[in-house]
Amino acid sequence: NEIKIFCPATIANLNCGFDVLGLCIDNIGDEMIFRKSPQKGIKITKITGADIPYETDKNVAGVAALAIIENLDLEYGFEIEIHKKIKAGSGIGSSAASAAGAVYGINELLGKPYTKKELVQFAMKGEAVASGSEHADNVAPCMLGGFTLVRGYNPLDIIQIESPSELYAVVLHPQIEIKTSDARAVLKPMIPLQSAITQWGNVGGLIAGLYTKDYELIGRSLRDVIVEPLRKGLIPNFDNVKNAALNTGALGAGISGAGPSIFALCKGETIARNVANAMQNAYLETKIPFDIHISKVN
Ligand code: HSE
Repeated sequence: NEIKIFCPATIANLNCGFDVLGLCIDNIGDEMIFRKSPQKGIKITKITGADIPYETDKNVAGVAALAIIENLDLEYGFEIEIHKKIKAGSGIGSSAASAAGAVYGINELLGKPYTKKELVQFAMKGEAVASGSEHADNVAPCMLGGFTLVRGYNPLDIIQIESPSELYAVVLHPQIEIKTSDARAVLKPMIPLQSAITQWGNVGGLIAGLYTKDYELIGRSLRDVIVEPLRKGLIPNFDNVKNAALNTGALGAGISGAGPSIFALCKGETIARNVANAMQNAYLETKIPFDIHISKVN
């Protein structure tokens, strides 16, 4: 009647795949504890690590949890403890971790009526509380692990993507907060055809590169001509950090999700370590505190 789970961080977009691509980082994440309770509904009983609301209908995890039990006629309810390690507004899927964790935990205590893929649609309701829009590019990899593609939203169609074994992700997280809703407000609703052609060429190239373990192709495809140019001004020293990563052998680098975190994908752990050092050195001059992580992608 009680379960404790780990809710991993995620990198969404991966340059070319705005709102559709994401990957799971399994060494950074929150913890959540769920208990069945005689009292109906969802009650958040403890929060550590973040200043977020206890009111169920204002809390990302609470809203996601309500979405999963909404159509079930239950004689009992659930208590949730949320222990945040992923900072809000960091660009590595903090709200998605809470939303995906909430529905996963409750589904387990319900006896798993839903598959993990089915859970994503409930988690999106929670994610929408934080970001103002229902997207699944963080929630899907958080729930399923590895690389995921949201092929379509209507109906939701999530594809798990294979990836080569030597892929490492470096994430530099500046200690500033960017609200996803603000980072979405700088985007333009219309894009030029030429940019769309470049972008979908790269999405196809990235997926093909991942399946065929073609690291060169993965690198050539990790580009973003639509979103990054509009958002990078929100992130101090972004170009220098990105160039430092590329010049040190990263396959690609860009904004993680809505930022401010900056990620790089690398082949092998040695290159990842060198890239992390280079990114760190390039970021130091901002004098803004940051942390940096290296994770194996799997
Ligand atoms: N795809 C989303 C964005 C991820 O970039 O706005 C952040 O929630």
